[in-house]
Amino acid sequence: MPDSVHASALEVEIAGVRFRNPVIGASGTFGYGLEFAELIDLNRLGGFSTKGLSARPLAGNPPPRIVETHGGMLNAIGLQNVGARAFVEDKLPLIRQYDTRIIANVFGYSDDDYLEAISILNDGDGIALYELNISCPNVKEGGIVIGNDERAAARLTEKAKRASTRPLIVKLSPNVGNIAAIATAIVQAGADALSLINTIVGLAVDVNTRRPRLNYGTGGLSGPAIRPIAVRMVHEVAVRVSVPLLGIGGIASGRDALEFLIAGATAVQIGTANYYDPTVTMKVIDELGQYCRDQSIDRITSLVGSLSFPQE
Ligand SMILES: Cc1cc2nc3c(=O)[nH]c(=O)nc-3n(C[C@H](O)[C@H](O)[C@H](O)COP(=O)(O)O)c2cc1C
Repeated sequence: MPDSVHASALEVEIAGVRFRNPVIGASGTFGYGLEFAELIDLNRLGGFSTKGLSARPLAGNPPPRIVETHGGMLNAIGLQNVGARAFVEDKLPLIRQYDTRIIANVFGYSDDDYLEAISILNDGDGIALYELNISCPNVKEGGIVIGNDERAAARLTEKAKRASTRPLIVKLSPNVGNIAAIATAIVQAGADALSLINTIVGLAVDVNTRRPRLNYGTGGLSGPAIRPIAVRMVHEVAVRVSVPLLGIGGIASGRDALEFLIAGATAVQIGTANYYDPTVTMKVIDELGQYCRDQSIDRITSLVGSLSFPQE
């Protein structure tokens, strides 16, 4: 952080939870946080979202599960995780020693699965918020099936909100016709915040075998290639709802993060870039501090939603 920018300049608040800066590791690319303890200073990070946690451990899909694409990657991991109970008992005691916000990302195949995972996680000390993943494209039940249906998404949000002892973020799918309509239904059902976007469904073909390159078939596209789509969706949702948004999609620099804030996000999550630069979150924090100093901005929150179109 540059000396002349006060440390609190980067502070943001989401559903009553204070983050020291708006930079958050994205679910599925940040393990359980501990994997990054040797690579970055976790005490400088705004927070991170865990790999999707389910009521029972899951093995995920068989490999190949990842394919590189231009400006991104296609994955079909399929929610491999240790399970909510093992997270609470084995991972959480180690992670909560760090001074960073822990977001537990929750996944299920049915409404009851989600609620069971939440009730296990409610026992875990140190979790700041839940993030409901109703947008994973790499499973045949739950996830995207719920996230693409306005009524199913609202119904699960309402139940999850009732079951949660913590504020609830709902993670939106970009694989829908009208993301603002689904966002509105989810907020009306009680979501405290929204995160967007999850990956975009794609397909990579092996031209020799004429089969999909991923064992699952399709996969979720992430990385810099999806950023303009994500920024557009954040703006579309920001003008329709009043809860805080967490912008996600292809962020790899401070300027990328700023695009999301200006479009209407209060915080950002960084995913795929961690794979090719595990220190990217620290760089983004430094670059946001630098921008505030250069532009004489006292509080980064003053940028949120400051986008103006020529015709507006
Ligand atoms: C390998 C991989 C695994 C992911 N697993 C999850 C997950 O478990 N839960 C979830 O909500 N999102 C998951 N995501 C989606 C990311 O959190 C993020 O929304 C998406 O990748 C877009 O951000 P990015 O372009 O910065 O990667 C995963 C993404 C990748 C690349």
